[in-house]
Amino acid sequence: MNQQWWHSAVVYQVYPRSFCDSSGDGNGDLKGVISKLDYLEKLGIDLIWLSPVYLSPMKDNGYDIADYQAIDPRFGDMNDMRQLIHQAKQRNIGIMMDLVLNHTSDQHHWFKQAKQSRDNPYRDYYIWRDQTNQIRSIFSGPAWQYDPVTSQYYFHLFADAQPDLNWENPAVAKEIHQMISWWVEQGVAGFRLDVIDLIGKEIDQGITENGPRLHPLLQQMHQACFKGKKLVTVGETWGATPEIAKLYSDPRREELSMVFQFEHAALDWHPEHGKWQVQDFDLIALKKVLSKWQTAFDGDGWNALFWNNHDLPRIVSRWGNDGEYREASAKLFATLLHGMQGTPYIYQGEEIAMTNVQFAELSDYDDIEIKNSYQEKVVEQQSLSHQQFMQGVYQSARDNARTPMQWDNSDNAGFSCGQPWLKLNPNYQQINVANALANQHSVFYHYQRLIALRKSSKYSDTLVYGSYQLLLEEHSHIFAYIRQYKEQRLLIVANVSQQTQTLSLDFKLAEVVLDNLQPEDESKVGVDLAQLNLAPYQAIIYLLAD
Ligand code: GLC
Repeated sequence: MNQQWWHSAVVYQVYPRSFCDSSGDGNGDLKGVISKLDYLEKLGIDLIWLSPVYLSPMKDNGYDIADYQAIDPRFGDMNDMRQLIHQAKQRNIGIMMDLVLNHTSDQHHWFKQAKQSRDNPYRDYYIWRDQTNQIRSIFSGPAWQYDPVTSQYYFHLFADAQPDLNWENPAVAKEIHQMISWWVEQGVAGFRLDVIDLIGKEIDQGITENGPRLHPLLQQMHQACFKGKKLVTVGETWGATPEIAKLYSDPRREELSMVFQFEHAALDWHPEHGKWQVQDFDLIALKKVLSKWQTAFDGDGWNALFWNNHDLPRIVSRWGNDGEYREASAKLFATLLHGMQGTPYIYQGEEIAMTNVQFAELSDYDDIEIKNSYQEKVVEQQSLSHQQFMQGVYQSARDNARTPMQWDNSDNAGFSCGQPWLKLNPNYQQINVANALANQHSVFYHYQRLIALRKSSKYSDTLVYGSYQLLLEEHSHIFAYIRQYKEQRLLIVANVSQQTQTLSLDFKLAEVVLDNLQPEDESKVGVDLAQLNLAPYQAIIYLLAD
């Protein structure tokens, strides 16, 4: 395999609106991010994926961009952005910008022009039809919005304020390439490409995802913007299978560095109600999916590893235990993920085991997806009751990840001295960065150790490049696998349950590399794996004897 710098990198996602507010207007901002760079450096990460900070009416929190080359005043200005890039670089941290290329805001000047008349030069930047078809918006309702001025419908896969760009028009590709190259010139280290599998669509054939033009478009983008540059790129691709992921990330094809796949992230969704009615956690199914991805590539693709992002509920509440075993289970999921092959992504707050939130009223929530889905499922179709829907919100809604970052136990968790745009999780009194930093056994330091093991230890090659083999495939509580590189073998074994588990593994002697429940200084040699007792949510990395 051709080694790349980003193979051993660890990425931290910042959702700027909720990270740190320096101005007191209740919205996080770029100066706030700059003020926390020392904290991120201490954690040990290499890259920050910055969710959108561009000019935006914030119908979808910045994923509705009105100007790709301007910073929204809520977040600061272009000088702040340059400062962030510069100051991060001084700490060896690169900035990855979030590119939302499937759609813009309806406030983008392209769309404002396009709406004016059918023969406006920008008309074909978007998708217009006289007739609609069956395609539905991902945010509920039809994917078509009637425009009375020009008597046509425009197409939007997300909110009606997020019209889809027409990638069949070469002028769109050209403008976007120029914009990306401009960001490269500003010194960013890479990009995350939002819902990128939707850009090759052929809507008259009903194809929205993985359309025939998708990969040629990405190859053109690579030629125009990425080729020969020290950049990392990751695509958001909900519909990717391992075969599809290779099309994006096989280095010979010159498209993207890697993609986020979501097979594991949607495992417990209901066939009809999706995330709004989740099903029981099934560890065996999770192991199967992740193991399939771990063994899918042999140099012809690369995994992006994640449990969380701004669209997903908090892992510790979802599949861990956010009560008695919050810290142990958070460390367990961290160990499992950081033990795998791929580039790990940490979402803000994950490193202190922030949890889901339960607000009493629907009006306490902000997310457009929650609001539109409520309207569709509870009000119009009445397929879910109010209570059922709220239960779904508590388990899976995106706002679980978006409550402000919990820095300390002062007012508003140290996030803002103003009125936060979204309520805080009331548990910030206990769960916060200050507490985590003061306790050497905290989840934070566990993440720090995992990152250090991957990046600069005698186990680095094995953690980054080692082969993967799942053990105890059918065990419903144990997740165990071996990583091997040359002669070195690591065993990662985790008890994903609230009961002690006893197992016997056929490896003679082992040394403990990292144990989520034992302090660092305890004896680390001579563990007998023939008789292994794992406490609830215990997760251990062992070095196996030759
Ligand atoms: C992606 C983003 C999500 C956004 C959507 C539309 O899925 O992660 O937050 O709402 O795209 O841009």
